[in-house]
Amino acid sequence: MCITYSANFFLPDLTALLLWYKANKRDLPWRRDRNPYHVWISEIMLQQTRVEAVKGYYERFLRTLPDIPSLAQAPEDVYLKLWEGLGYYSRVRNLHRAAQIVTDEYDGQVPQTSLQLQKLPGVGAYTSAAIASIAFGEPAIAVDGNLLRIFARLTAYDRNIKEEKAKKAAEQFFLRILLEPGTVSAKDKAQSDLKQPDQSRPVQNRLQPAEDRSETAGSVPGDFNQALMDLGATVCLPNGEPLCEQCPWKEACAAYRIQEQTRYPVMPQKKTRKTEDKTVFLIHYTQKIAIRKRPDRGLLAGLYEFPMAEGHLEQDEAVEFVRCLGFSPLRIRALPPAKHIFTHKEWHMTGYDVLVDETLPAPDQALIIADMDALDRIYSIPSAFSAFRTRVMDG
Ligand code: ADE
Repeated sequence: MCITYSANFFLPDLTALLLWYKANKRDLPWRRDRNPYHVWISEIMLQQTRVEAVKGYYERFLRTLPDIPSLAQAPEDVYLKLWEGLGYYSRVRNLHRAAQIVTDEYDGQVPQTSLQLQKLPGVGAYTSAAIASIAFGEPAIAVDGNLLRIFARLTAYDRNIKEEKAKKAAEQFFLRILLEPGTVSAKDKAQSDLKQPDQSRPVQNRLQPAEDRSETAGSVPGDFNQALMDLGATVCLPNGEPLCEQCPWKEACAAYRIQEQTRYPVMPQKKTRKTEDKTVFLIHYTQKIAIRKRPDRGLLAGLYEFPMAEGHLEQDEAVEFVRCLGFSPLRIRALPPAKHIFTHKEWHMTGYDVLVDETLPAPDQALIIADMDALDRIYSIPSAFSAFRTRVMDG
């Protein structure tokens, strides 16, 4: 059932989406309870990261650091290790600081409103809305790329979707669906701009209160956001044809009506990333390998890496580089090249496996000679080095 919303599109029906979600929701580890700490950890992990990649990390993190006090007290190497490979490591540093703030300033309880949540390090508009809606039932919309794409298709939004204006329009649009289901009157037909939703209206708090009183039962706002996330991830797909026949909102969708789903969202031209050439060195002897800690600020701050040189070094330059670190190379062989893509840059890496004799490196190089198995247990080596790290494991 659809309600005419403007001259160009319809306001889709809240219940249709919630029923679809009930029948089709993905079974994800962070949906098994609504513990605010669990919701918070999951939403931070899910920032810029695929659901499949997060699952295992989420469970391991909570096994090791099951509550706010354990996170607040955790040493840096422990929480960095739990994040190893997940990327965007400032997230876990912020989590750690935020856990200390929650302990000191909020009596150990996760703040309950999106406004308070946004004061914590690492919690922005999207994450605060996700946590507040899922854990506390606040009617806040977590606007991310999925929601923007759904909004753009539903309304055939033909301006640049990356603009702040588009985000605001999407937020207002979804808030109206959430707060005012079934209330759009005929006079709305005449206006093409989105009205402010009436935030003073109470939100129906549970989908089916009589049936669904379990700990996992979601609030309507939390379920609404997560239903939109699932719709974006499984039906209203990016890059190519969406699966419109499975969509509970297809009749309300302007893009579907004109069969122009792939025209939306309208994206700006992509900026090209800067590329940097690097040479990575696996310098080792008898189950020990040289690593070093990256600087405390900037890209991959505070994590560990294999020694690296700028540019792609030829073999004789590579031998010289290893000597300058204070080692005596016995054997050197080139490794297959690898590429790693960050948000704003790409590393194009070549590498060398270098067997050295057991003399210690020059002290001024701040190298650590680590046991190979300590790479697994202690030191966090970012996934930028995965291709080379596998070579270490292979011996
Ligand atoms: N992405 C961000 N938050 C999510 C959630 N709660 N469920 C699924 N995907 C998400």
